[in-house]
Amino acid sequence: MAMTGVLRPGHACIRVLDMKEATHFYGEVLGLIETGRDSFGRVYYRAWDEIEHNSIILREADSAGMDFMGFKVDSEASLDRLEADVRAYGIPTERIPAGDLLQTGERVRFQIPSGHQIELYAEKARLSTPQSGNNPPPWNPEAERGIAPIRFDHALLYGPDIEKVQDLFVNVLGFHTSEQIMLEDGKTQLAIFMACSSKAHDIAFVRHEEPAKLHHVSFYMESWEKVLRAADLMSMHKISIDMGPTRHGVTRGTTIYAFDPSGNRFETFAGVQSSYPDHETLTWTWDEVGTAVYYHDRQLNPAFLGVVT
Ligand SMILES: [Fe+2]
Repeated sequence: MAMTGVLRPGHACIRVLDMKEATHFYGEVLGLIETGRDSFGRVYYRAWDEIEHNSIILREADSAGMDFMGFKVDSEASLDRLEADVRAYGIPTERIPAGDLLQTGERVRFQIPSGHQIELYAEKARLSTPQSGNNPPPWNPEAERGIAPIRFDHALLYGPDIEKVQDLFVNVLGFHTSEQIMLEDGKTQLAIFMACSSKAHDIAFVRHEEPAKLHHVSFYMESWEKVLRAADLMSMHKISIDMGPTRHGVTRGTTIYAFDPSGNRFETFAGVQSSYPDHETLTWTWDEVGTAVYYHDRQLNPAFLGVVT
């Protein structure tokens, strides 16, 4: 197996202000498939092409944002090894028992220097879907309900000390840095994009004074056409759109940013480039920061740097 250790983003737990409003949005408008509810009132979803029980978990709270993001690792042995490596690096970890999240095994949780709670897990129940097993069709009827992304793809998080975050993800968790955006001095990073796979990014960070903030969770679409269809649905449902449809310079992705009813930003995007550990880190300079984020408008909208949850 070429890919070992951390495999991919597995879940994100999103805080919502009103669960009824949120379940209408995530279920009917975004088109995720509800897979369960637990005794804490949390609601679980997966996208139609995902193989595990859950990828997005909603928790009702007084403030919007993200409780934690979890990454799938390839085995219990890797979970043990990575837990030891994170501890040896000087970051305390805690074990959250199996079953705390529905159908999910034991999780190793730790706080990274930006203030976010990151988890690793090795086990989660696999669902039998029309896309699994022998002779699978290319999509199922659930793929037509609402925006219907293929998968939860990545998150962009805002917080301080992103160079320390990069060191942890690259030198302990085995990620590589695919792209970066530099500040005016040409030395300090404004943003870093990192991957544990050959995707353009599996997680990204923007330097920000306040810790533990969420900029967006992102959902992968099959095509630019599906991104445009998502924009149509957002307008039909009066969803607040932050930017797009447009293209990012970073990752080349075609994209829309919009907000869920609680004010959490989400992205629907398609068409990104690949990244491999032997690729050079692509760098965007401060004078082209607008192009890096919005390739067509070539300037940041005020909400991009200011509005986070
Ligand atoms: Fe994104």
